[in-house]
Amino acid sequence: MPSMEVNFCGVSIKNPVVAASAEPTLNAHNMKKCIDTGAGGIIAKTMTDSPAMRELTTRSKWRFLNERHEVCQGKVPRAFSLYGRSGLALEPPEEFLPEIKETIGYAAEHKAVVIGSIASTEMQGWVELGKQIEDAGVSLIELNFGCPHPKLMPGVRTGMNVGQDFDYACEITQAVAEAVSVPIMIKVTPQVTDLIEFAGRLKKVGAAAVTLTNRFIGFVPDIETGKPLIYGQAGVGGPWIKPLTLRWINEVRRAYKDEIFIAGTNGAYDWRDIVQFIMSGAHIVEMCSAVMVFGYEWLGKQVRGLEKFMNEKGYETIDQMRGIASDAAMAYAYMPREKARVNPDLCNYCRRCLKACFYQAMQDGEDETWVQEDNCIGCGGCYSVCPVPGAIDIVIHQ
Ligand SMILES: Cc1cc2nc3c(=O)[nH]c(=O)nc-3n(C[C@H](O)[C@H](O)[C@H](O)COP(=O)(O)O)c2cc1C
Ligand code: SF4
Ligand code: SF4
Repeated sequence: MPSMEVNFCGVSIKNPVVAASAEPTLNAHNMKKCIDTGAGGIIAKTMTDSPAMRELTTRSKWRFLNERHEVCQGKVPRAFSLYGRSGLALEPPEEFLPEIKETIGYAAEHKAVVIGSIASTEMQGWVELGKQIEDAGVSLIELNFGCPHPKLMPGVRTGMNVGQDFDYACEITQAVAEAVSVPIMIKVTPQVTDLIEFAGRLKKVGAAAVTLTNRFIGFVPDIETGKPLIYGQAGVGGPWIKPLTLRWINEVRRAYKDEIFIAGTNGAYDWRDIVQFIMSGAHIVEMCSAVMVFGYEWLGKQVRGLEKFMNEKGYETIDQMRGIASDAAMAYAYMPREKARVNPDLCNYCRRCLKACFYQAMQDGEDETWVQEDNCIGCGGCYSVCPVPGAIDIVIHQ
C-alpha cells in the first residue's frame, strides 16, 4: 500500500485531501462530517471580527451553472461553475472558537488535522484572531487574503482587498507570524498580475505556505429576464478553472522548489485533479465546490481514488509525484519539432481534419487524407478533431 502521508509545513497530514474553508466547514457539525470521510484535514470556515462579513453569510446564495452558464437543475456537469455570494463564519470569534475546539478533539480521534482560517479588517485584528485561533489548538493558520466578496462591499478592507495590496499583505503576514508559533499559510487571490514575487515576499516575512488560489469575481446575466443571476456580481469558480490555478502552482514551484509549501485550491473536482495539483507542485489540495454538489462523502471517495491510482502506478509516496510535471515543463525554444502522420489503414476519410489545418498541410486525396510534410508544423489541430483513435499520430521529427 502506498503512503499518502504528507509533511506540510512540518505538520504530518495523513493524506493530501483537505476540506477547504467554506460552508462544508461552517461549524463543528459540518467539520466532523468532513473528518468522518477520511479526509486528511479540514480548514475551518474563516473566522472574522468583521460584522459585515458575518452578516453577508446570512444572505448567501449560490447556483451551480452548466457550460452555458445557465442554472443547473438536477444534472450538474463535470465542468460546472459554482457562482455564489457568501461571507465568512456566521458567529463572532468568541462563539466560533468553541466550534473549533470541539472539532479539534474529534479530529484527534480520527488523526485528522484542523487548520484555522482568519480574516480581519484591521492589522491588530489579524494578530488577535491569529492568537485566539492558535490558543484554540489548530495545527496551522490560513490567512484569507483571497475572499472575493469584500471587493463587492465598499469599505471592507479584508480578503482580496488585502491580497491585491502586496505591501499591506506582507505587513499582516509578518505581524501574525511573529505573534503565533504555528505555521501560517497565506491564501491569495488570483486577481493580480504576479504571484511569483508575492509568494517569495510572503515567505521572507514568515509564511510557511501559500494557498493558490481563492476564487474570481464574475458576472452572469439571465437572458430571459435581462437581470443578473443572484442579483449581481458573485464569486465564481469550478473545475473548469483548474488550469489557471495549476499555472500559478507551476510557477511558484519552479521559482522556489521546496523552499515554500503549496496548498492548491480552486478547481479540483476529483482524485484525477488532485493528482494534477500534486504533479504541478501542491503538497495538499483543498476542495470545496465539488463537495458542495455531491456532499461530504465526495472527499472520502477522492482519498480512495488517489490511493488506488498510486497503487496502480507504483507511486509509493506523494513526494514521488509532487512537482514532476512542473519540473518537466520546458520553454518554447526547447520543444521538439513534430509532424502529423495519417495512418491510411485507420482513416475513414471523414475529412474532419482538413477543417482544422490552417497551414495547408493536411491534404485531400482520392479516398484518404495525407500530410504535406513540408507544410506541417505539428500543431496537433488535426489530431484533436480526428474521431478515429490512431488515425493520426503526432511524431517527433528531429
Ligand atoms: C460558498 C463558498 C464559501 C467559501 N467560503 C470561504 C471562506 O470562508 N474562507 C476561505 O478562505 N475560502 C472560502 N471559499 C473558497 C474555498 O475555500 C475554495 O478555496 C474555493 O471554492 C476553490 O476551491 P474549489 O474549486 O474546490 O471550490 C468559499 C467558497 C465557496 C464556494
Ligand atoms: S499537425 Fe497541424 S499543421 Fe500538421 S497537418 Fe495537422 S493541423 Fe496541419
Ligand atoms: S479526421 Fe481522422 S479519420 Fe477523418 S479524414 Fe482525417 S485522419 Fe481520417
